Amino acid sequence: MVETGGKKFLFDPFISGNELTKGIVDASTITADYIMVSHGHVDHVADLVDIAKRTGAKVISSWEVVAWAQKNGVENVHPMNFGPARFEFGKVHYTPAQHSSSMPDGSYGGNPGGFLFHDTEKKFYYSGDTALTKDMELIPLYAVPDVAILPVGGNFTMDVDDALIAADMIRCKKVIGVHFDTFGYIMIDHEKAKEAFRNAGKELILPAIGESIEL
Ligand code: NI
Repeated sequence: MVETGGKKFLFDPFISGNELTKGIVDASTITADYIMVSHGHVDHVADLVDIAKRTGAKVISSWEVVAWAQKNGVENVHPMNFGPARFEFGKVHYTPAQHSSSMPDGSYGGNPGGFLFHDTEKKFYYSGDTALTKDMELIPLYAVPDVAILPVGGNFTMDVDDALIAADMIRCKKVIGVHFDTFGYIMIDHEKAKEAFRNAGKELILPAIGESIEL
């Protein structure tokens, strides 16, 4: 969840079935104005339909993820494909990710992506699940983010070393790591990861589940 400009942007809600959130995050009390969905994998959409229906938050994602949400009763939606769009809160690029995207029912999820927010108090880039990709060099040509939210767990996405290269390509020194520790395949050593960033003159923030940070 990112709060900025008096609005709440919820990204890829995965609380149900997530061992790490048990007893810490209650999906039934989350409020949001917008729900941004990077792709259709179950560890990104598990609580999407419930939260969207209860809060009326606008779901912004690929055409195919949005169609799946609509099929499941979500009404407030905005479908995209790669490229820029303008919203009440400002401009967003839906950016390519090197990953895959299928919905929990096996249907096609469209292209996996990420989101670059141009007009928020702090510009930020949420890459979504992705391997390192040269497309990231385009990000600073659109807008140089103050902070980037990047996967660091490896195996399914970039690892810490790849995220360091990505940070250079994006031209961003402050990175919030995501997509780690949830499954056995993506466990990381937090201190080693932060040290690798420090040694490169960058900062890696690894928020604990339920923790809030001010940027
Ligand atoms: Ni995924």
